[in-house]
Amino acid sequence: MSKCSSSSCGDGKASACGGADAVIARQDLAIESSLGRIRHKILVMSGKGGVGKSTVSTNLALSLANRGYRVGLMDVDLHGPDISRMLGLTQCISEVTEKEDGLVPPMRYNDNLKVISLEYMMENRDDTVIWRGPMKNQAIRQFIADINWGDLDYLIIDSPPGTGDEPMTVASTIKDAMALVVTTPQEISLADVRKSLNFCKHVNLQVLGVFENMSGFVCPHCHETVDLFKSGGGERMAADFAVAFLGAIPVDPMVVSGGDDGAPYLAAGGDSPAVAAFAAVVDNVEKQAASAPASPPMGEEACSACASSASCSGGSCPSSS
Ligand SMILES: Nc1ncnc2c1ncn2[C@@H]1O[C@H](COP(=O)(O)OP(=O)(O)OP(=O)(O)O)[C@@H](O)[C@H]1O
Ligand SMILES: [Mg+2]
Ligand SMILES: [Zn+2]
Repeated sequence: MSKCSSSSCGDGKASACGGADAVIARQDLAIESSLGRIRHKILVMSGKGGVGKSTVSTNLALSLANRGYRVGLMDVDLHGPDISRMLGLTQCISEVTEKEDGLVPPMRYNDNLKVISLEYMMENRDDTVIWRGPMKNQAIRQFIADINWGDLDYLIIDSPPGTGDEPMTVASTIKDAMALVVTTPQEISLADVRKSLNFCKHVNLQVLGVFENMSGFVCPHCHETVDLFKSGGGERMAADFAVAFLGAIPVDPMVVSGGDDGAPYLAAGGDSPAVAAFAAVVDNVEKQAASAPASPPMGEEACSACASSASCSGGSCPSSS
């Protein structure tokens, strides 16, 4: 019998050990086993809040499910989980009476779409979560290790704005995740997205592509598209960073009511310009995911200060700020 390496273990036998190292090691194995059954993992992120990450995550997951793929949707926005509301899901883990294969069943939107959000774990959804980095890291690891995702074609991961603990944990735990970076056309948002793309470089997260949301406004009266802000910035930025541009969709008031009512609008298949534009984005996501190279990409060797790519020369290294 091998000796346990955990200093906190008084037993000395690995089999009986409940030490922290052994728990982490077991969890690593569970994560590996869970992720091994998931083909494409897409992290929806943005440097900026309110640009439509959760809207895109939800509608993308549902569109892919509607196309017949087996999809998981994981909400790692732990302080502001929105996914349950956007899908009208009210299930609570306390109602679960039986595990599946020893794992916790996720919420189910339909046969093809499984969903996990912190709200599922909360008795009162209006409670606030006051957690720091390590707890968030652990929660996200449990979302992967303890949930019965089964075989999936896509796992879509909705993240909070910025490049904090949540996207960091996803990047370090899911090595083959790809980032879908959401922006809006204003220069201030584009500047934040440039930061997101640099973050991807730093943590070796492959970029699936850039998506421009709220690109113009479709007038409900004459159905003409009006450019509220400048447009085309997302496409130019994708070109600057040599990543794919996945498409743009306009502002459409139906998107807001769909999100509030738990009936995702962009995936519903109507004939509005926003729905048609979103379908083209989903086509591009499928194409990009299918053609993605197997191994991580943008960065080169690790920087000793921030454990990221060689393109980090200290000055822009997150660990130096
Ligand atoms: N194309 C669109 N047209 C109209 N409204 C939109 C569009 N995209 C998103 N919205 C609305 O904008 C608001 C913010 O969207 P959402 O919550 O998806 O952004 P987010 O980036 O996830 O925000 P946060 O950073 O707070 O997580 C929501 O009310 C949503 O319905
Ligand atoms: Mg959100
Ligand atoms: Zn008009």
